[in-house]
This record gives sequence, C-alpha cells and structure tokens, in this order.
Amino acid sequence: MKILVTGGAGFIGSALVRYLISDTDCEVINVDKLTYAGNLDSLKSVEDSHRYQFELADICDRPAMDLLFARHRPNAVMHLAAESHVDRSIDGPGDFIQTNLVGTYASLEAARTYWCSLNNSDRAAFRFLHVSTDEVYGDLAGCNDLFREDTPYDPSSPYAATKAGSDHLVRAWGRTFELPVLVTNCSNNYGPYQFPEKLIPHMILNALQGKPLPLYGDGTQIRDWLYVDDHARALYQVLQLGQVGETYNIGGINEKKNIDVVKTICAILDEFVVDKPSGIETFVDLITFVKDRPGHDERYAIDAAKIDAELGWRPVENFTSGVRKTIAWYLENQPWWQRVVDGSYRLERLGKGSQD
Ligand code: NAD
Ligand code: TYD
Repeated sequence: MKILVTGGAGFIGSALVRYLISDTDCEVINVDKLTYAGNLDSLKSVEDSHRYQFELADICDRPAMDLLFARHRPNAVMHLAAESHVDRSIDGPGDFIQTNLVGTYASLEAARTYWCSLNNSDRAAFRFLHVSTDEVYGDLAGCNDLFREDTPYDPSSPYAATKAGSDHLVRAWGRTFELPVLVTNCSNNYGPYQFPEKLIPHMILNALQGKPLPLYGDGTQIRDWLYVDDHARALYQVLQLGQVGETYNIGGINEKKNIDVVKTICAILDEFVVDKPSGIETFVDLITFVKDRPGHDERYAIDAAKIDAELGWRPVENFTSGVRKTIAWYLENQPWWQRVVDGSYRLERLGKGSQD
C-alpha cells in the first residue's frame, strides 16, 4: 500500500511514518510544509528507506496537492497536517483557520479529484483517514462522563473549533461525494520527539535547564494521556480495518491531573538526574502556578470501547511506563532537543526551500 501522510514531520506524524516504515511494508509519501512544528531530524531513521519520500508542500495549495496525487498515485491518505497548539490558537487563530479548515478542504478536493479518476476496484479500496482530537467534544467539567463517538461537538478553543470544522468537512465529503473517509478522535499524546511547547516535554526540558515549571491555574485540569506509538498503531489499524464512514475514539485510559503529571515527571527526574542544575535539591521545587489559559477546558476523557471491541486495539503503554520511556528518551537525545531549543533544526527547512 502507498500512503500519502500529511504532517509527517510533526510529532505524531513522524511517529506514524517511523512505524509504517519499520513495522509494515507500506510506501510512505510525507507531505509537509515544515512549519515551526515540522522537524526532519525526527525522520533520520527512515530517510534512507526506499519506501519513504518527502515532499515539501502546503496542504492549502490545491495545485500542489493535485500534482502530488497525480505523481504518487496513493492508495490512501492519512491526514495529520494541522496547527495543533491551543495556546498558539489563542494568540493567533489565523493559521489554524488556514491549515485546519482551508487545508483540509484542499486536501479533500485533491483526494476526491484523484479518486474519481481511479478504476472501480481502486476507488473501492481507497481511504481518506482524518486524524482529529477529543477537544472537539468540549469540556467534561464536573461530571464523570466520557467522550463517545456520538458525543455532541462543543469545542472551546480556536484550535478545537477548527478541528471540529475539519471533521465536519471530512464527513460531508463522505456523505455527499461518497469519498471513503474515516475519522479518528484521540486524546492527548506524549512521547519522544514532541515539540517542547506541549505540557510534558515543556516540563522535562524546563526542569533539565533549572527553569520554572509553569502550571496554568491550580493545575487540577485532567487530560487522558496516550503514548504516541500506541496512537500510530491505532491509526494503521483503523486504516486497514475501519468501516468506511465511521469514527473511532482513541484514548489512553490514563486520566491524570496536570499537577500529578508534573509531580510524576519531577520524581522520575530526581531519580534519573545525578547532576541537578545548581541550587536544586528536588525538581518539585520548580513548580510555579501561573495565570490560567483563557477558556481552559477542565477535563477530557475518552471511551475507547468501540475501537477495542470492533478493531481489537487498546493501548500497550500505561502512564508510568510511557512517561519513564519518554524522560529517558529526552535524556539520551539531547542533540535532538538542543537543535529545537536553539532553532538550528529550522536550517534544514531553509535548505529545502520553504518560505515559512
Ligand atoms: P504537530 O504540530 O507536532 O505537527 C503538525 C505537522 O503538520 C508539522 O510537521 C507541520 O509542519 C505540518 N503542517 C502544518 N501546517 C501545514 C500545512 N499547511 N501544510 C503541510 N503541512 C503542515 O502536531 P501533532 O501533535 O503531531 O498532531 C498531528 C495531528 O494529530 C493534528 O491533526 C492534531 O490535531 C491531531 N492530534 C494531536 C494530538 C496531540 O496530543 N498532539 C491529540 C489528538 C489529535
Ligand atoms: P497541552 O500540552 O498544551 O495540550 P492541550 O491543551 O491540547 O490539552 O496542555 C495539556 C494541559 O497542560 C492543559 O490542561 C494545559 C496545561 N499546561 C500547563 O499547565 N502548563 C503549560 O506550560 C502547558 C504547555 C500546558
């Protein structure tokens, strides 16, 4: 199978590409614009594979997308390219509207035009898998409920609202044009190669540099954490076995308060790091409560029963094992994150001619 992956230089996209190359026979075309979140360093282990190709392109650029479909003739699309950080969507929603809505529209139209040109059996086998988030369902504050596939949409942030809109577009293209679409909505991911603006790597790298660990509000907000390799495996399983037109919720079965996540990270770092930054006895002392995020959702939690019952997927990693692996990875891969912190990973992009 030849899969066109959008956003394959990002955190989850790169985990998916590494998985597809190492654990399957698939060919992968990675289409990525290399925004600040795209990092080709995360793909070093696959870049020499004859089953992997990189294409620098903006998914909003319809002619470019048409050319890529015509050139590569994929059997499937796994659509991950997005602006993905809630805080950035509050500071500047414009890029989120462009990539998450306009970019998904352009990708759907390019896929549809190509799909219409296929013969009957290739049309029937084609899939467009849209990768989305549990944040489209809104806030589970003050109740014990879980997000199910039929939970009504109620997004809070500009990020969540644009992802909700993109989900609606994908389903409309399925219903109206009969494009064979699948949608997944996943909880918070963590693991190696995550850009250090998200909670877990932000805390690990701040701690290692002796900087404050900023918790928004009182730190009691709850997220359901999934190790990224479990997500990559789930996506491939949905692509292969999922029923066309269906949605699958993917979750870690790992609800944690932010404060407990950060205390766990501090305890593991206390154990792993012999030479602590000067003046620090225990990393917990770096925790600092800061002004809350506007519109901050209190709780997300996924009911992953459908994907378990219908496709036989469940997470392998629990939070303790996953976070230990993640911290060990950041400790062993300082050159990767150092190039992110000092900005030198972006030189790769300039070399590839991106205008971003
Ligand atoms: P990320 O921000 O790490 O990566 C996004 C990638 O998309 C980057 O490589 C970036 O260069 C690329 N990109 C952005 N705009 C583009 C454009 N216009 N054209 C081409 N490429 C573009 O994101 P992530 O955390 O890996 O998330 C991937 C997907 O999974 C997103 O759709 C996100 O909404 C979804 N998701 C993320 C999480 C999470 O916890 N990170 C959870 C559930 C769902
Ligand atoms: P984040 O990783 O940004 O993911 P999302 O907002 O998509 O859930 O944040 C996870 C949680 O951690 C969220 O409740 C906000 C909180 N948070 C902090 O308290 N401090 C931080 O520095 C960051 C980045 C997040």
